[in-house]
Amino acid sequence: MFHVWKLLILIGISCRTLYAVYEDEEEPNCFTLTDETCPNENITFWFYTNTILEGRQLWMHNLSDAGFLPRKPLKVLLHGFHGNRDKLPNNKLRLLLTSQNYHVISPDFRNLSVEPCYSQAVDNAKYVGRCLAHLLTQLVQDRLIFEEDLHLIAFGLGAHIAGFAGNFMPENIPLQRITALNPAKPLFLGTDNADKLDSSDAKFVDVIHTDVLMLGLLNAVGHVDFYVNMGISQPNCGDISTITTHYCYHNRAVAYYAESITTPKGFFGYRCPTYRSFLDGLCKPSNDVEQMGFYVRLGARGLYFLETDYFAPYAMGRNHMNLSHEIKNRTYIPPDFLDGFLDEKNQTSSDTDTEGINSI
Ligand SMILES: *[C@@H]1O[C@H](CO)[C@@H](O)[C@H](O)[C@H]1NC(C)=O
Ligand SMILES: *[C@@H]1O[C@H](CO)[C@@H](O)[C@H](O)[C@H]1NC(C)=O
Ligand SMILES: *[C@@H]1O[C@H](CO)[C@@H](O)[C@H](O)[C@H]1NC(C)=O
Ligand SMILES: *[C@@H]1O[C@H](CO)[C@@H](O)[C@H](O)[C@H]1NC(C)=O
Ligand SMILES: *[C@@H]1O[C@H](CO)[C@@H](O)[C@H](O)[C@H]1NC(C)=O
Repeated sequence: MFHVWKLLILIGISCRTLYAVYEDEEEPNCFTLTDETCPNENITFWFYTNTILEGRQLWMHNLSDAGFLPRKPLKVLLHGFHGNRDKLPNNKLRLLLTSQNYHVISPDFRNLSVEPCYSQAVDNAKYVGRCLAHLLTQLVQDRLIFEEDLHLIAFGLGAHIAGFAGNFMPENIPLQRITALNPAKPLFLGTDNADKLDSSDAKFVDVIHTDVLMLGLLNAVGHVDFYVNMGISQPNCGDISTITTHYCYHNRAVAYYAESITTPKGFFGYRCPTYRSFLDGLCKPSNDVEQMGFYVRLGARGLYFLETDYFAPYAMGRNHMNLSHEIKNRTYIPPDFLDGFLDEKNQTSSDTDTEGINSI
């Protein structure tokens, strides 16, 4: 029996063929886009406001009829692998944003992102990004939305789609901001920046890491990267001996982000130059703190670490007294494998200020 966790880690080192093994086991109906034109019937865009709660599909030929109100700020919400516009956690965050009076555009590319067809979903991601850029450019040119409102909030695989969208925007209409919620690791580790999310994809890229051992990237990929509970495990997610616990860690990135919109306490991380130095205990709570989430400071730069409470509401303000450096017993990945993993970290020599470690 092939272990899914091994697969996810190995795939992170970009070994696509192994994924095919997994896919064959599942008898999938995997689909790679061949018709790459925009608009595309498999990439639809949905518009939401606090009065259009069920969403209205956007069509290129009548965008001005969709109901964009002047000067209402916009959030673009991208779901992840095996997601769709109406699936958790996408729909919950959307409801919160519209209730806060934001316009929301939610791309839906469910046909291109079907479990277990992950490598196809990765191939398709570029085209979703391109069609999104195509739509956003048209909306700005038609003056239905303002360039300074181009904020993409993207979960898992969607984070790389946001990165692609950034690459496909015209030079004079850059994305203002990408918020990446536990950006996906499998197949994206070690690939070129052009093929994954990075800080050149928007004027400001903020990242929340909640599952760096399994589903999410460990590397810092934004202008500012927050590692919640070390990015290793999240509280109250269930038994560490099952892989589904990692899905909970992954989804929790969205829950933290949602809470950050309304929290009175705030999520504050303190700075550490690299992930490795944090693991090695070289960084103590300091006054160099930044707020994570919706109200992050656009000038924030670097890696920040914070912990949460055990139950929602999770925010603990500037209290860092419970932050652990312990990795073992917090993951489905067996301890013997983690040992090797931790040894590897000690071999990493090229720490730079923003790179973190590259060993998984
Ligand atoms: C999925 O694909 C089918 C067949 O091409 C299409 O009719 C349907 O609209 C697609 N669904 C979505 C949500 O894109
Ligand atoms: C835009 O056109 C499509 C058909 O092409 C139609 O179904 C839709 O209702 C129109 N949208 C609006 C807001 O008028
Ligand atoms: C949309 O996806 C379905 C599979 O879900 C596929 O059969 C169809 O050909 C796709 N349409 C386009 C235009 O790629
Ligand atoms: C820190 O952890 C201890 C023991 O696990 C717990 O009793 C305490 O409530 C925690 N403090 C905070 C601020 O969460
Ligand atoms: C952590 O895991 C090891 C080995 O799996 C076990 O022996 C140990 O008791 C665990 N420690 C805690 C605190 O759960």
